[in-house]
Amino acid sequence: MYYLEIEGTSNLNGSVEISGAKNAALPLIVSSILAKNEVSMKNIPNVADINTLFLLLKNLGASFSFENHEAKINTSTLNNTKAKYDIVRKMRASILTLGPLLARFKECEVSLPGGCAIGQRPIDLHLLALEKMGANIAIKQGYVVASGALKGTDIIFDKITVTGSENIIMAASLAKGKTKLINVAKEPEVVQLCETLKEAGLDIKGIGADELEIYGTDGELLPFKEINVIPDRIEAGTYLCAGAITNSKITVKKANAKHLSAVLDKFRQMGFGIEVKDDEITILPAKKIKAIEIITSEYPGFPTDMQAQFMALALRAEGTSIIDERLFENRFMHVSELLRMGADIKLNGHIASITGTKELNCADVMATDLRASSALILAALFAKGVSRVHRIYHLDRGYEKLEEKFKKLGANIKRLEE
Ligand code: UD1
Repeated sequence: MYYLEIEGTSNLNGSVEISGAKNAALPLIVSSILAKNEVSMKNIPNVADINTLFLLLKNLGASFSFENHEAKINTSTLNNTKAKYDIVRKMRASILTLGPLLARFKECEVSLPGGCAIGQRPIDLHLLALEKMGANIAIKQGYVVASGALKGTDIIFDKITVTGSENIIMAASLAKGKTKLINVAKEPEVVQLCETLKEAGLDIKGIGADELEIYGTDGELLPFKEINVIPDRIEAGTYLCAGAITNSKITVKKANAKHLSAVLDKFRQMGFGIEVKDDEITILPAKKIKAIEIITSEYPGFPTDMQAQFMALALRAEGTSIIDERLFENRFMHVSELLRMGADIKLNGHIASITGTKELNCADVMATDLRASSALILAALFAKGVSRVHRIYHLDRGYEKLEEKFKKLGANIKRLEE
């Protein structure tokens, strides 16, 4: 197994290019199941989750090529509608295949993804919505077994769910009649999926709002146009955090500042300068790094996927910061690792109080989930001495060329094998 060795550093500088968004690319790749033609996509990040999804599509009978961040996917040869446990267990987002497979083939079996490190993560809202659209759903031997022709209807999501919204948007696009989705997710990744389907000729109204209306094609597949995946807002936010925790000036290129408004506001509140020019965002050192309060919420609120990184950053602030994690009940797994580095963090349910310090100690720490891993790297950049972050396969799921990018910013970071 690989681990990262990171030497605490006083300063970073320079710029780094942001990859395409993993969480946008995943539903877009899955949406090719709805396509009439071969689908061409650019700016796909070369990370483990994307390769897992290609493996899943291949297993369903699709053909694809993936080189230099460009993919060509042909799902005309799909001949299998069972998404196997072996692949789904590696990546929860595989559940995204449920809606499109059912809409196109009127039957499918998708393994239940199960729990994960950050919480229980049920898929009840995905299933309820499909049932409301006329699907028969049963859980058999760990699989969601679904069948039936889908009809448009009104669906109110009790909670805002990102992949749940994406799943039902894709299902509704081939259903018969109008589907109205109320309390639908508005994340930029959901918006790009909707815009892609609209480009392919789907009649869809309310993109980016709380309510969407989709006029399904009654089984007819859509002629897709070329897709260019949006920049990864979480990757951009993570590198900006690296600038912040080392109080250095760094620039992220090929980013979209509009998608990061809530995050950039928090940097400003902490005292950092933020400059935005076209697709570049620069963070400038703060005279004094101030404590903050953060409540995670759905877009356009502060993203839960940036919570761990800001917790690491709060360790450097003057005073006590408060982070209230509202989306996932167990998303504080990084806390015990940060404590091993000498952090002062108190947990009370879903609220963390983080008291800043002048110095953290280096330590051996273990990554527990994708974003927690990046928080540990950030803390290691601030800690005195050489830290080792283990189980970095979590990081490889979502961060492309991580060491290369950190090295480019001047970090002393090495990937080594245990
Ligand atoms: C997506 C993102 C993930 C991000 C999360 C929240 C992808 C591939 N992953 O995950 O990086 O952290 O959004 O922004 O895009 N819920 C239910 N029932 C359901 C579905 C969700 O109760 O059927 C709950 C969840 O437990 C959670 C909340 O709704 O508390 C939001 O989860 P959701 O938006 O569905 O997260 P994901 O789509 O899995």
